[in-house]
Formats: sequence, structure tokens, C-alpha cells
Amino acid sequence: MKPQRSFAVLACVFLSSLALANPAQEPDLKTIMQGLRNDTVAMLDGLLTDDFDAVAVAANGIANHPSIPGDQVQLVAFELGPEMPAFKQFDQQVHDLSLSILAAAKEQDRARAIADYQHMLNGCLACHAAYKERVANVLSAASDTEKESSDPL
Ligand code: HEC
Repeated sequence: MKPQRSFAVLACVFLSSLALANPAQEPDLKTIMQGLRNDTVAMLDGLLTDDFDAVAVAANGIANHPSIPGDQVQLVAFELGPEMPAFKQFDQQVHDLSLSILAAAKEQDRARAIADYQHMLNGCLACHAAYKERVANVLSAASDTEKESSDPL
């Protein structure tokens, strides 16, 4: 193989490995949700044991969860159409309550942290009741198509 050609082959291999590696670095919605679950469980544990530091760490994790990748946002917006603002509103509600829990944990205000936790959980579950299945179907159909089109065989 001529040196120029082998360089071109190497460059292709390098570029395609970058293209494959990139999506894995940006967490998808499902991975973000799994992080929310871990923080929600840790938060309950903190509330049950009066560990306000643990509550604050978990609240911070929920408040600052990674944003949904742009291509997934587009798929969700296309599916939900005029309902997209309602979907975002649930996310906002959970976000605002996690900040309120963070503040309550810093003040060691157990009653407020617990009341806000219950409201936050309602927000998680209300969004799931309204949209989880629909959105999960759209996103998993899209990732199946993506896998097929990048499959070299
Ligand atoms: C704005 C709507 C919305 C809110 C708010 C929301 N979720 Fe979700 N959640 C979803 C959707 C949509 C899925 C399906 C994602 C998928 O399968 O691609 C999901 C899936 C999940 C899953 C399943 C992940 C898996 O492995 O299949 C868990 C666990 C979860 N969410 C936890 C939470 C927790 C905890 C909260 C609150 C702190 C929360 N969610 C708030 C929309 C929401």
C-alpha cells in the first residue's frame, strides 16, 4: 500500500471512530432518567436518615441534570407538537422543586424538604403518565433506524 493511501485509510478509520464515539459521550434521555432515579432514591434515603448533605448532593444532581441531546429534543417536539410546552413544564416543575429541596436541605428544614420531595415525585410520575411510553417509543424507533443505517453489512 502506498504511504498516501494508507494515510487516507487511517484517517477514515480515525474519523469514523470519532463519529461512533461521540453519541456515547452525550447521555441520551434514558441515561439522564437513570441518573434522576439514582438521585431520587438517594434523596429519599437522605430524608429517611436525616442526612441533609446527601439530600443536597442529590438535589443538586437533579437540578443540574445534563440536557437532552438536540436530535432527541427534535424527535420529541415532532411527536408531541403543541403538547411540547406541557412536556417542558413537567421538567421545569421537577427542576424548580429540586432547587427548593436543595435550599431546604441547606437550612436543615426537614418538613419543607419532605413536602417538596413529594411534589417533585408527583412531577416525575405525572410526566411519565402523560408522555413516557409515547416518547420512549419514538426514541427507540429512531435509535433502531440509526443502528441499521450505520451497520456496514
Ligand atoms: C418531562 C417529562 C419527564 C419528567 C419530568 C421525568 N421523566 Fe423520567 N422519563 C421520561 C421519559 C419520556 C422516559 C422514557 C425515556 C426512554 O425510554 O427513552 C422516562 C424514563 C424514566 C425512567 C426509566 C429509564 C429506563 O431505564 O428505562 C426512570 C427510572 C425515570 N424516567 C425516572 C425519573 C425520575 C426519578 C424523575 C423525577 C426526578 C423523572 N423521571 C422525571 C420523562 C420524564
